[in-house]
Amino acid sequence: MRLAVFASGRGSNLDAILSAIKRGDLSAQVVLVVSNNESAGALQTARRSGIPHLHINRDHFDSDAAFDNALLRALTDERVEIVALAGYLKRVSPAVVARYKNRILNIHPALLPAFGGKGMYGMKVHQAVLDYGCKVSGVTVHLVDSEYDSGPPILQRCVAVADSETAESLAAKVLRAEHEVYSQALQLFAEGRVRIDGRTVEVA
Ligand code: GAR
Repeated sequence: MRLAVFASGRGSNLDAILSAIKRGDLSAQVVLVVSNNESAGALQTARRSGIPHLHINRDHFDSDAAFDNALLRALTDERVEIVALAGYLKRVSPAVVARYKNRILNIHPALLPAFGGKGMYGMKVHQAVLDYGCKVSGVTVHLVDSEYDSGPPILQRCVAVADSETAESLAAKVLRAEHEVYSQALQLFAEGRVRIDGRTVEVA
């Protein structure tokens, strides 16, 4: 499976995907890394690993259409089959979502639909979970539509919230779960085991 990973930051989920591929747990090849952020760790990883990479964002273009076309051209050139958003903090445009319908995944560090939506990313999510007094949080891997965090879930995993939890300790626990769950979800696609009918996602 030819995979593109879009990331805005550190890129630990990209690292985990590359490790799963190396171990033989994920039958995929990362053929493109895309970032809106020039200094993203994910781009450094791509450079170090010899993976084609692209720093691209809307500000480089005169119109939404020109931006979408450049992005789609890069995906087409690398014959990308599945796109994995991994800490990518930009909304994917309707044109890209339409072209890659049901083939763009995202990972979110909470149990959607709780604690998701525009502006809910990273530590803000974990702080909101603690402020609410939740006893569990977790990870959601879901399909991407053109809203933030609103596509149907593919896999979810719970993580217990301890009494003494801090946003930092919860983030670390959730991230460990993310690193396992994302590759598992992607492997389901690699094996062609995912059936999608509207919001119903079934794993065969
Ligand atoms: C991850 O925790 C991911 O779930 C989160 O950003 C982090 C990226 O970490 N994404 C969101 O909050 C999206 N709403 P990474 O750059 O180390 O993979």
